Amino acid sequence: MKPKMILAPSMLSADFKNLGEEIKAVEKGGAEFLHIDVMDGIFVPSISFGMPVIKSIRSATDMVFDVHLMIVDPIRYIKEFASSGADLITFHLEAAEDPQAVIDEIRSHGCKVGISIKPKTPFEDVIPYMDKVDMLLIMTVEPGFGGQKMMPETIGKVRAARDYVTEKGLTTDIQVDGGVKYDNINIPLEAGANIFVAGSAVFGADTFGETKRFVEYLANR
Ligand code: DX5
Ligand code: ZN
Repeated sequence: MKPKMILAPSMLSADFKNLGEEIKAVEKGGAEFLHIDVMDGIFVPSISFGMPVIKSIRSATDMVFDVHLMIVDPIRYIKEFASSGADLITFHLEAAEDPQAVIDEIRSHGCKVGISIKPKTPFEDVIPYMDKVDMLLIMTVEPGFGGQKMMPETIGKVRAARDYVTEKGLTTDIQVDGGVKYDNINIPLEAGANIFVAGSAVFGADTFGETKRFVEYLANR
């Protein structure tokens, strides 16, 4: 079965003084996921936002809250992110001592599970978890900041992951994050990704219009 194509605008690039309106714009534009980047200043150099912000925006929309945890030892905070309103929680393989324990913890709080790998982590490292998670997030930039250029060397992993999922008959979604633009989204798409995070390409002068353009493109693929 053909996987569903989904746009996940990354809130990191939103105008925070108008956050409620920015969220409404991507929702109205047809985005199904809202990608929420949580950074701790240790796993990645920057610090973004956390539970209070997520809690506060939960009532603004019914979009799926796709929470991308870029934090060390993620198991410590799963319960709080789940109760803040996350629907899907993605943690980094590189940040977890016992990835299976994190998966179990996320499920125990009723959320869907994503696992992510950074550009230098080979796909093989995540294979043991592919049938245990709902989504694999392949970082197409080094995590930490929005507005970077997609790294072409990460695309081979997208292809390997799609081949693996097809061969094993899995339904695991494949998400890409970093440097996705309207004029290059076809690259990870043709390699087999089906969930596309886009931050700086979506939020800006015409957040609604850009969202719609991506969503229409994906609907026709
Ligand atoms: C980077 C974050 C991304 C980021 C993407 O560490 O995980 O989600 O917001 O931003 P763009 O689309 O601008 O590369
Ligand atoms: Zn992200």
